[in-house]
Amino acid sequence: MASRKKCLVLGFFAFLWAELGIKGKEETEEQTCRLLGKFDLNGYVDAKNHSLVIGGLFDIHSRTIPANESVLEPVSAKCEGFNFRGFRWMKTMIHTIKEINERKDILPNITLGYQIFDTCFTISKSVEAALVLLTGQEENKPNFRNGTGAFLAGVVGAGGSSLSIAASRILGLYYLPQVGYASTCSVLSDKYQFPSYLRTVASDKVQSEAMVRLIQHFGWVWIGTIAADDDYGKYGVKIFKEKIESVNLCIAFSEIIPKVYSYEKMQRAIDAVKNSTARVVVLYASDIDLSPFVLEIVFHNITDRTWIASEAWITSALIAKPEYFPYFGGSIGFAIPRADIPGLKEFLYDVHPSKDPNDVLTIEFWQTAFNCTWPNSSVPYHVDHRVNMTGKDDRLHAMSDKFCTGEEKLEDLKNTYLDVSQLRITNNVKQAVYFMAYALDHLSRCEEGRGPYVFGNTCAYIPDFEPWQLMYYLKNIKFTTHNGMTIETDENGDVSRGYYDILNWQLDDNGEVAFVKIGEYTFTDSKFELVMRKNATIFWNTESSELPYSVCADVCRPGTRKGIRQGEPTCCFYCIPCADGHVSLEPGQRECEQCGEDYWSNAQKNKCVLKEVEFLAYDEALGFTLVLLSIFGALVVLAVTVVYVLYRHTPLVNANDQELSFLIQVSLVITLLSSVLFIGKPYDWSCRARQVTLAMGFSLCLSCILGKTISLFLAYRISRSKTRLISIRPLYQKIIVLISVLVEIGICTAYLVLEPPSAFKNMESQNIKIILECTEGSIEFLCSMFGIDIFLASLCFLTTFVARQLPDNYYEGKCITFGMLVFFIIWISFVPAYLSTKGKFKVAVEIFAILASSYGLLGCIFAPKCFIILLRPERNTHELVGGRVLTIDKSIQPTSASVSSELDNTMASTVEDD
Ligand code: TRP
Repeated sequence: MASRKKCLVLGFFAFLWAELGIKGKEETEEQTCRLLGKFDLNGYVDAKNHSLVIGGLFDIHSRTIPANESVLEPVSAKCEGFNFRGFRWMKTMIHTIKEINERKDILPNITLGYQIFDTCFTISKSVEAALVLLTGQEENKPNFRNGTGAFLAGVVGAGGSSLSIAASRILGLYYLPQVGYASTCSVLSDKYQFPSYLRTVASDKVQSEAMVRLIQHFGWVWIGTIAADDDYGKYGVKIFKEKIESVNLCIAFSEIIPKVYSYEKMQRAIDAVKNSTARVVVLYASDIDLSPFVLEIVFHNITDRTWIASEAWITSALIAKPEYFPYFGGSIGFAIPRADIPGLKEFLYDVHPSKDPNDVLTIEFWQTAFNCTWPNSSVPYHVDHRVNMTGKDDRLHAMSDKFCTGEEKLEDLKNTYLDVSQLRITNNVKQAVYFMAYALDHLSRCEEGRGPYVFGNTCAYIPDFEPWQLMYYLKNIKFTTHNGMTIETDENGDVSRGYYDILNWQLDDNGEVAFVKIGEYTFTDSKFELVMRKNATIFWNTESSELPYSVCADVCRPGTRKGIRQGEPTCCFYCIPCADGHVSLEPGQRECEQCGEDYWSNAQKNKCVLKEVEFLAYDEALGFTLVLLSIFGALVVLAVTVVYVLYRHTPLVNANDQELSFLIQVSLVITLLSSVLFIGKPYDWSCRARQVTLAMGFSLCLSCILGKTISLFLAYRISRSKTRLISIRPLYQKIIVLISVLVEIGICTAYLVLEPPSAFKNMESQNIKIILECTEGSIEFLCSMFGIDIFLASLCFLTTFVARQLPDNYYEGKCITFGMLVFFIIWISFVPAYLSTKGKFKVAVEIFAILASSYGLLGCIFAPKCFIILLRPERNTHELVGGRVLTIDKSIQPTSASVSSELDNTMASTVEDD
């Protein structure tokens, strides 16, 4: 192995300069510049016999030990928490450099050295290391030629993004090439801030996008996020949030794991996970930062969560322990592609503390791995200065009382360091070193006059080149790795194409956590693709072992729509039933749609159904009864006619104007049957026919009655004056009828011609029904049409009312008066009834009125006569009909015939025909 040595580094504190300046005046020239302190850095260096060195930054420890507060002087912190994974990465760099040096095809005449520092996973150490890489060992100003005396070509590292950022801020000042192998933070793509940073790993922009795709793939909508308190966690989650919101999914909570243990902060994160309904949580953190959180999750027994892992912990042995499996089993995450590195295993096994007593890192590795103390070593074993989770400050500073023998077998060790089954970031380290080597190789192969640099196409020469000259080659590099992958970076220095393995944590037969590949996420500059393995079985850490369901509110059923919950994310909503006449057909609709004109919503509001069409039909009970009633009425009238015809020679029938009687009967048949026109589906013709027929029927009927009553009235006047008066002739009666009917016909015709009624679909009055009805057409005409009828009826009433005081046996006047009263009562009560009903009942009310008034007239005018004719024929005599016979039987009602007959006898002239 190359020479190792604890690096001695100069202090770089500003105040030292000031102090030096003051002292310089007093002391001799040789003593002017003296360092007061040095950075306490660990690492490996091999620079002898090499003209070029590559710097390396690795997290071999997990943290620094907090400085003793009583010491006021600034001191460089020590580190603790040996990190086997980081140690392996670091060893891989050394291995790769050796491999390159042995290769004849890359950098044939040049060998590379290295200077590697432990960053202890802290920013301050990373800055210290960057400074030391730039400045020589005993020098006090940056000179690019580092402490080893060799020329620093560039730096590989650091591990965590925050560390890379910190180092890059300094290295970038000199444009010194830096190739990252694990730092994925998206800000590192910003070339204004980090001009000389390149990496062999994709940016978290890609990973966050991949996570969103995965979440969409499984249909989760309600996601929690937990981030480490560093650039990696915060920027990772930031981009993830932006992307998730752009696809209308929601963040349930967003918490941070503190770097330095804080009970309150940790509890906040734990409570968020515990109390949220989100079953899927994205965890963006390095394994080192994650460990305390994992312990808390175990402590609080939080199961039934599916964790979406970032690449930093998905394959970490720190977390993937069987004892954590009940809590973290089933985690799904994205891992950097795995590779096999030939020869690495042997190289890793070639480690023993006895080789170099100054190699403190190897001693610490040995002590930590085998839980023993290396004889005569001052390297503490298993130090933990953290305030532990219980909040008590029981700091450890333990040395195992067992001594290491040196005989311990690495083969017996189950340790991350030696586990070469998951070489992922390790492979990235190798690629990063190759990246640098290939760039140097290209630089070394420059032909003078064909070089890339302006002003004469000059070349740069090893070792004396400027950092920016190497940067040129680094930016344009494209090479194929030992396992056939092509490495190429885009203009931001990120790998431009590649893939992530999608891994799922399952338990294997040995009870160990296995990372099962369930898919792949490939990406290029412009294309992303998530491909899940078809036959892969995924382990879900849910009670039912089924795909977890992570929603804030369940999808709204069809028939309901999403309602906003004030102040909450869009994924949380109420399900509000659609309004009447509106439906939602698909689950989870935002809005309900209105049904078409002829349609209405069903009870569940998930379908538009044809509106019920309402009209008074023949085949329903009501319609049928009404038809029966009207036909029955018509038959009764017919029967009366038959009786009249059969008994036409009897005095009672004879006494009346038979034609008028017949006309009344006809008109009653018309009115009775006109009600049939009101029943059934309304058409334009039936709408027109019904009103007109009815009006005509009534006008005929009433005008005939008027003809009768006027003659009665005149007879009355005669009986009063006792003077000879010319009674009204039947002809005049008919003229009255004719005139009335003609007027009515005129109005009806005008009505039909000018503004006729028509059939109409009434959608407004009732939502769920379409009411088929008739429009009135012109109200004016309609009113005048029935106005005539009312006028006639009023005349009839008045004339008979006056004439009702005719001599005793004048009863017909009373009958007609009574009939007219019935008629009025029916039609007056019809108005409110009609106005207060809707739909088909409106029509039914009208028919009732028609039938009732017709029956009323029929009953009042014809029933008494028919009674006498048929049941009391003995009363149907001239004497009785015509004479002044005192009728004892009051039930026999003399008719108008009696009046006429009386008039016959007492008056000089009466109607001859009577
Ligand atoms: N991606 C991490 C970052 O950008 C670095 C990282 C990857 C890491 N894997 C890791 C850190 C494992 C620690 C352990 O910060």
